[in-house]
Amino acid sequence: MINRRQFISRSVALAAAAPLSRYTFASAPPLLQENGIPPVDVSGARFPANFIWGTATASYQVEGAWKEDGKGESIWDRFSHTVGKTKGGDTGDVACDSYHRYKEDIAIMKQLNQKSCRFSVAWTRIQPTGTGAINQKGLDFYNRYVDALMEAGIRPMCTVFHWDLPQTLEDQGGWPNRDLYKYFADYAGIVAKTLGDRVTTWAIFNEPWVFTFLGYSDGIHAPGKKDPKLFLKAAHTVNLAQGEAFRAMKAASAKAKIGSAYSMSPGFPATDSEADKAAAERYHALNNVFFLNTALRGEYPKAFVGEPPYGIMGVQPGDDKIMQVPLDWVGINYYNRHFISNAPSAGHYQYHDVMPDQGPITYMGWEVWPRGLYDIVTRISKEYNRPIIEITENGCSYSDGPLPENPSKVPDPRRTEYYREHLAELARAIRDGADVRGYHAWSLLDNYEWAEGYSQRFGLVYVDYRDLKRTIKDSGYWYGRVAAANRLDV
Ligand code: NOJ
Repeated sequence: MINRRQFISRSVALAAAAPLSRYTFASAPPLLQENGIPPVDVSGARFPANFIWGTATASYQVEGAWKEDGKGESIWDRFSHTVGKTKGGDTGDVACDSYHRYKEDIAIMKQLNQKSCRFSVAWTRIQPTGTGAINQKGLDFYNRYVDALMEAGIRPMCTVFHWDLPQTLEDQGGWPNRDLYKYFADYAGIVAKTLGDRVTTWAIFNEPWVFTFLGYSDGIHAPGKKDPKLFLKAAHTVNLAQGEAFRAMKAASAKAKIGSAYSMSPGFPATDSEADKAAAERYHALNNVFFLNTALRGEYPKAFVGEPPYGIMGVQPGDDKIMQVPLDWVGINYYNRHFISNAPSAGHYQYHDVMPDQGPITYMGWEVWPRGLYDIVTRISKEYNRPIIEITENGCSYSDGPLPENPSKVPDPRRTEYYREHLAELARAIRDGADVRGYHAWSLLDNYEWAEGYSQRFGLVYVDYRDLKRTIKDSGYWYGRVAAANRLDV
């Protein structure tokens, strides 16, 4: 047994090896638990009667079959095939091979009593170059996938874009090119028209801040560009695309309920100073609601110091009307919290964020902080007038695998603990008034963790990458019991 302190320092050492350039660690302030925050209440946690329990995956991370049935090349195909871009040179060429094994995956979801499956559609399967002719074989795959979910009694929740942009569109400038907002809306309309008779819950984008910032400013994700101005332009095109796609999808499918899945992470001022408090507000505006406020209110939140860089972003008169749409629900992906300080030299937004190390640290190098889920859900609920919320992702990476002496058993107690505590905090947010309708564990399967390749295992189900065998982890069985019982003390 290792004690908590050893566990943290080992995990931090692992974390230090991970190329997470945007994080540094802060030394811990006094334990917040000692500052009046109630302890996590697992046995008292209650969920509404019709609460939706689900899991999430994304096309590039699980499908494989990267050039099958007419699929075009995406920026993640190109990026992962470029030497030095991903850990160990790992690619999503095969991934979990869910393109061929989806029936097995859906059978596991059913066995675990799941009511919702959040999956994403690869634009390059449907329009291989991003515009023009439809590749029927690609659409047929998603038709089969959705049919199999319906047959299993599982709600298909479809994300239209989870980062795998057609490379042809990147060659035309990628998301910083304003033209993409119309191309994207055409594609979203095609998907909604085809699947919209069965899919009613849609997320337009997954984590727009992450794919625009890490892809165009940080460069650690595809397409690997490093220019803060490109990020600002990309972000604006994506905001326009979100609005235009919403309208195209509603026109294609009257029963569509449409939101987006946003990465959200509460940011606390590093000190009591007014400057750090203001920086934390800018952080919230940029990281959490830059793509939500635009939709619900038609305007950018106050993310900048001084004059907002609308010129650089390419904002044009009338864009507010394109961006503004009454999203039917708000998706929250929660993983961790940050401490924010004022940083006058840091570009237009002038803040510096660090990840605290007060809680345990996962293999991904992220602090476990269940209370942050309560904080962000209740904040969004209050700020946006109690919208319908679904937790579209929450989860952790630990490398536990099958026992050598009993390969059908994968004991992963830290993951079960992680989910138990986060779900207890979510129940508290619901009790305190947030209208949360569903929760999706990230992820059903261990899968391709982007630049981290296969080194990070987020699954409730272990995947052996040598033969792609799936083995349900102890946490998966536990989550299955939770879904059946609608409570946590199972
Ligand atoms: C958020 C992303 O949506 C997903 O693709 C990723 O694997 C998880 N976070 C874990 O990093």
